[in-house]
Amino acid sequence: MNSENVTFTVFRFNPEKDKEPHYEEYAIETRKGMTILDGLRKIKDEIDGSLALRYSCSSAICGSCSMKINRYSKLACKTQVTDQMKLHGKILVEPMANLRAIKDLVVDMEPFWNHWNNLKPWLIKDPKKPEPAREHTMTRDQVTAFGNTPSCITCAACFSECPAYEVDHNFPGPAALSRLYRFAIDPRDGAQKERLEMAGSIDTWLCVRCGLCVEACPKDVKPGEVITLLKEKSVKAGHVQNIGAHHAESFRENIEEFGNLNEGKLVFDTLGVGGALKKSPDAIKLLLRGKKVDKLLGDLKQKPIPGIEQVKQIYREMKKKK
Ligand code: FES
Repeated sequence: MNSENVTFTVFRFNPEKDKEPHYEEYAIETRKGMTILDGLRKIKDEIDGSLALRYSCSSAICGSCSMKINRYSKLACKTQVTDQMKLHGKILVEPMANLRAIKDLVVDMEPFWNHWNNLKPWLIKDPKKPEPAREHTMTRDQVTAFGNTPSCITCAACFSECPAYEVDHNFPGPAALSRLYRFAIDPRDGAQKERLEMAGSIDTWLCVRCGLCVEACPKDVKPGEVITLLKEKSVKAGHVQNIGAHHAESFRENIEEFGNLNEGKLVFDTLGVGGALKKSPDAIKLLLRGKKVDKLLGDLKQKPIPGIEQVKQIYREMKKKK
């Protein structure tokens, strides 16, 4: 595509004028290498100066141009018009999800920053450690362990895609938790104990490992995978008195003993009897829809699967490697 007319369909909302958001179409002449941000700036410069959007570096560094492009959260400055046309045959631009649209493509980032700041994403000096004569040094392995977490540009694309935050706004979101992990393993940090306590809280375990944040991240931080490492670390540090850790442990025990899952037992182990009873209205609905009683309450006569010895062998091997 050297030069072609492409129509951008853009979400528009001006709270001072509009009762409801609407979409407007802008036909622009595109050129080879043009990004979505270039296209939006062309619209703003040449067609409608009232279009509101955020951007700064145009180089995938500042993180300010995140938006939904053809329904996926992306950096507008890193997304080529040509690629989107090839993939979707159209250009649909909307504000990020999970954050309130203030005007057009500009969202209120406050919930994102509140969670980010609550997790103290900075190095906390250990008062008991003496000041080094020069800089704090780290080994190559210690730095490698960070993975790509220091590359996060806080663009909030992961936050926009996160279904855990969508259902429960107490969930800090993938970026904040990745940053928490980055400091929880930093040998120079003096608050590692406190950080793992935070990670052991129920909110971390709301992550359902859907992987959408991994797909959305423009810097390959892989937040979903980092959250799993954070959970593991907090469990190893003894923070097991929470629903998520109970769930993981019950899952592990069940498979090790029987080779398959006893869903009812999983619910009781995870929530306790009181918590499971609170779920009884949901259980009744499931029964009415044909769920079997033994699946719901736990199969009391559960027997190991025929190949259970092989399953147990896998567990033995895993324990040896720990
Ligand atoms: Fe800075 Fe896109 S404008 S990341």
